[in-house]
Amino acid sequence: MTTPPRPTRLTFHGPLSETRADALVRRLAGNGPATVLDIGCGWGELTLRLLAAAPRATGTGLDLNPDDLARGRHTAEERGLAHRVRFLQESATGTTRGPADLVLCVGASQALGGELPTALGELRRLVTDRGRVLLGEGFWQRTPTGSELARMWPGASADDHQDLPGLIAPATDAGFRPEWTETASLDEWEEFEPAYLADTEVWLAEHPGHPMAEETRQRADRHRAAWLAYRGVLGLAYLTLVPVRAV
Ligand SMILES: C[S@@+](CC[C@H](N)C(=O)[O-])C[C@H]1O[C@@H](n2cnc3c(N)ncnc32)[C@H](O)[C@@H]1O
Repeated sequence: MTTPPRPTRLTFHGPLSETRADALVRRLAGNGPATVLDIGCGWGELTLRLLAAAPRATGTGLDLNPDDLARGRHTAEERGLAHRVRFLQESATGTTRGPADLVLCVGASQALGGELPTALGELRRLVTDRGRVLLGEGFWQRTPTGSELARMWPGASADDHQDLPGLIAPATDAGFRPEWTETASLDEWEEFEPAYLADTEVWLAEHPGHPMAEETRQRADRHRAAWLAYRGVLGLAYLTLVPVRAV
């Protein structure tokens, strides 16, 4: 009997359009990185595109999820990039894998331990002096109401995120200047969130009597309710950060 599927319709594990991904890859590869370190890489789609655009670069992706890492390795093989990338199943907290010329941390600052200022301090430690960091980080587009928070993740609180200026201030405090500040559009969210659940919804429709159906339905319903509560409220910022040189 088939088990509930993993999401196959996601290109990236977050709200990121092809147009924005292309622009990010052009800008980040344009800085000529020789090494790329991807913190909480998942299946590493952005790293693989960067390695394709920067043919002399090598990459290391760190994540805890073996299935996502296996997808990354498989895609690397398919694209002839396997000899230039390692997908390692290990925690990024306190990692000794840096420094790298380009450090990606997209939707994964929690992997660096602690709050955002701690993560930014770690990113500064992990990037070379002339390198770049791409930080993809959640922020509130407006203050969520109590009723919205109650429908988000368990224990959701207005303190869980900053507003957008509240992301820049700790980045500059950590020794960066924001080369580029951009945020995911509602269209990008509306491509990402349904794609996250689509395979599960089809499976649920086709397997109503499956022993895992009830648990899977509850999980899908909770996720959708949360998404509909944070739709237009939770943003995702992509900050391209440049380390400030020592005087
Ligand atoms: C929202 S996903 C983002 C994945 C990827 N960066 C992307 O944008 O497609 C967050 C990832 O962080 C990973 N993660 C969480 N804690 C981690 C840790 N301590 N060390 C490494 N990865 C971690 C999760 O397994 C998950 O794949």
